Amino acid sequence: MEALHERKGRQPLLEMRRITKSFGGVFANEDVSLRCYPGEVISLLGENGAGKTTLMKVLYGMHAADSGEIVWKGEPVSIRTPGDAIRLGIQMVHQHFMLIPTLSVAENLVLGREPKKHGIFQRCGAEEICEELSRTYGLRIDGRRRVSTLSVGERQRVEILKALYRGAELLILDEPTAVLTPQETRELFGTIGRLRAMGKSIIIITHKLKETREISDRVYVLRGGKITGERQTAGATIDELTELMVGYRLVQTQNQHPTPGDALLCVKNLSLREKQGRSLLRELNFTVYSGEILGVAGVEGNGQEELIEVLSGIRSGWDGEMELRGVRVEKPTPARLMELGVATIHADRQYRGLLLDKSAVKNMMLGFQRDRRFYRRPRLVWKLAERQTAEEMERFDIRPRDPQRAAGEFSGGNQQKLIVARELGRDAQLLIAANPTRGIDIGAVNSIHQKLLQARDGGRGVLLISSDLDEIMELSDRIAVIYEGRIVTLRAAVDFTELELGTYMGGTADA
Ligand SMILES: Nc1ncnc2c1ncn2[C@@H]1O[C@H](COP(=O)(O)OP(=O)(O)O)[C@@H](O)[C@H]1O
Ligand SMILES: [Mg+2]
Repeated sequence: MEALHERKGRQPLLEMRRITKSFGGVFANEDVSLRCYPGEVISLLGENGAGKTTLMKVLYGMHAADSGEIVWKGEPVSIRTPGDAIRLGIQMVHQHFMLIPTLSVAENLVLGREPKKHGIFQRCGAEEICEELSRTYGLRIDGRRRVSTLSVGERQRVEILKALYRGAELLILDEPTAVLTPQETRELFGTIGRLRAMGKSIIIITHKLKETREISDRVYVLRGGKITGERQTAGATIDELTELMVGYRLVQTQNQHPTPGDALLCVKNLSLREKQGRSLLRELNFTVYSGEILGVAGVEGNGQEELIEVLSGIRSGWDGEMELRGVRVEKPTPARLMELGVATIHADRQYRGLLLDKSAVKNMMLGFQRDRRFYRRPRLVWKLAERQTAEEMERFDIRPRDPQRAAGEFSGGNQQKLIVARELGRDAQLLIAANPTRGIDIGAVNSIHQKLLQARDGGRGVLLISSDLDEIMELSDRIAVIYEGRIVTLRAAVDFTELELGTYMGGTADA
């Protein structure tokens, strides 16, 4: 808060004035103005496609703006290449890292600015530089290690050190936490705090409100290429920021954790091996009750895909038992499971969930071909199907409300809502939701979350398998963590902290 008063009469480090940038007639940035003061952390908040990366690429000399001006320390500057930006003291760490994996940390660090003696590269020099930087900024890293052996979090640390070595005064981080575990995120935020204390300025791009609130002094919200608001973070509420981001108010998700009912799905000693013998799933045991959401958390690639495939009847060749409402299911197929009351929402909407070149109504009827509501011997009555689809589009706010439009022509969020509407429309007691909101805008995320909670409150059981930890924590009544094909913990959601979950997800918990 002190920043506000102190800043009066102080010169901004950076000013972007009325920046406009279009790609083939589409405005990625329109009349965007922004300031950043020395020692300030700015958050650039907005949904996918809002124009955040574009704006920062303009600043970093990777895109030429159509119009607008950049002022650095009070002087108008022309930044045509990243080299120009770097010379001024502006550094950007991208979403995809740009290190050379076969070189060591120290070599990567000094790349392009190698310490030389009589024209010969000095490896020791590089390692010393690395050590000193690492000490100065409190970023632990061993300069001798090869980059290919580093974790993602460590690579990011090297990128940041490299930026600092090149004399960054303003550091731009593009969605830096997207690839990090909660622990690594915490460390990164610690680093950002230290850099701020040293007088560095930081612009962090994010679509996460929680992060914005946690780390930034001030926030600019972008929507559809325009700034919709600027706030001191400390005074801004979640509701207010969400509204700036999506353009309307969202119902905050409330999770009341009702008392669960009967066992719906019971999995016993489920194991799966690859042909070569590698274990993909190891002795899984869990039950999903009616009236509960059981969340399965985990870093992607720890058996979730295989679990979903087994439970939705796509994959055979597993060992163990699967019971639905106390009745053993011997060789489940997707059709058989559907009959038994299992509905599945796949994240992979393009591949499994929808027929993209077919209309919304045709997609809504997948698996309903013989449903009494639409079927009049000998065939499905499309008029009835269309009426039903129109109603679902209303209920789920699917836009545009056109049942005849091809599924592929809806946006990702609307495609996903189509799938959710269809699957909830089944008379299914058990719902398997696999990353149900991956890659879609928060308005649609929010609406799908509400529907899942409603389904649960109505007595259905939901198995939510998601690599989005926020989603798991928000929705689940109980949480299991899957790591290397094994459930390493399973208990009531209220008994976990986020950090603890992160420890299990990273395979470093003792239990
Ligand atoms: N190189 C490009 N060519 C064409 N369109 C682009 C390019 N980069 C971004 N866009 C478009 O500009 C808009 C903003 O994108 P971007 O800045 O990446 O958003 P954000 O980083 O907020 O997700 C999007 O509609 C995107 O499709
Ligand atoms: Mg981006």
